[in-house]
Amino acid sequence: MASTSPMATILLTLIPCLFLIIPQAIAQSAPAPAPSGLANLTGILDKAGQYTIFIRLLTTTQVGNQIESQLNNSNQGMTVFAPTDNAFNNLKPGTINSLSQQDQDELVLYHVLPQYYSLASLQTVSNPVRTQAGSQNGVDGLNFTSSGNNQLNVSSGIVDTPLNNALRQQFPLAVYQVDKVMLPESLFGVKAPAAAPKPAIASNTSSTGVATGGEPQAAPSDANSKSGSNGRNVGMGLVAGFGLICLGFLLQ
Ligand SMILES: *[C@@H]1O[C@H](CO)[C@@H](O)[C@H](O)[C@H]1NC(C)=O
Ligand SMILES: *[C@@H]1O[C@H](CO)[C@@H](O)[C@H](O)[C@H]1NC(C)=O
Ligand SMILES: *[C@@H]1O[C@H](CO)[C@@H](O)[C@H](O)[C@H]1NC(C)=O
Ligand SMILES: *[C@@H]1O[C@H](CO)[C@@H](O)[C@H](O)[C@H]1NC(C)=O
Ligand SMILES: *[C@@H]1O[C@H](CO)[C@@H](O)[C@H](O)[C@H]1NC(C)=O
Repeated sequence: MASTSPMATILLTLIPCLFLIIPQAIAQSAPAPAPSGLANLTGILDKAGQYTIFIRLLTTTQVGNQIESQLNNSNQGMTVFAPTDNAFNNLKPGTINSLSQQDQDELVLYHVLPQYYSLASLQTVSNPVRTQAGSQNGVDGLNFTSSGNNQLNVSSGIVDTPLNNALRQQFPLAVYQVDKVMLPESLFGVKAPAAAPKPAIASNTSSTGVATGGEPQAAPSDANSKSGSNGRNVGMGLVAGFGLICLGFLLQ
């Protein structure tokens, strides 16, 4: 048909350039993704009320900080089972206070899974699920069982309780209410199977078998924080190059 005007030619040349440049500009202006800003565990518990004892334990054991830094540094997400104040108050008096600091760490870490799970995915997870506690020797997992009517329970082997209320269920952090404190077998289990009480040698009672569990692991690692910016620089290079080509067309 009619010959295209110079103006149209310029526009046609520009359009592909815009497609390349505009998304890049948007990506540049958007702040770096900060999922942890949305996943403030203490804030979530605080807002829900009735978790003051758990919040205090998260603070005194430093596990709260660990969770936050792990949320920052891992792409697996986390799942937290938050016992209510009632759950703690229903324990035998002194249960928590009689634990050593290290065992308190262990107890709190037992309520944390190093991965994000929705309630639906817990229905079909394969048991036992590894917790943050006792990860060295493989003890201290949690079992998840669901019955026909979709009731999902979490069990420590000592404590079995339903999971209903999700305080938050959105990657990277899931927080579920539990109405009982999950007591791990390594701390609260019957020590000896007591199969055949041997004629005891009274003087030798040192075999308490308490797993000491080692240091709570923070598993930080800022190794993956660098790669993102490299990728962006390459992207910017490409865009700049393409921009020059476009400019070249325009100046012809
Ligand atoms: C998380 O929430 C708590 C309690 O609401 C607040 O004190 C704290 O500043 C918040 N932390 C962040 C990183 O937003
Ligand atoms: C997590 O990341 C946020 C935002 O980048 C930062 O403010 C916060 O200090 C980090 N927290 C930890 C424990 O690394
Ligand atoms: C989980 O289930 C397995 C297999 O039924 C069992 O051997 C294990 O003791 C259970 N662990 C807990 C923590 O309930
Ligand atoms: C869940 O736990 C409750 C008691 O806490 C128990 O009555 C119920 O049978 C359990 N359900 C399943 C599916 O294990
Ligand atoms: C105590 O018992 C343990 C294991 O039963 C044994 O290894 C240890 O030698 C005993 N110690 C004494 C002082 O008898």
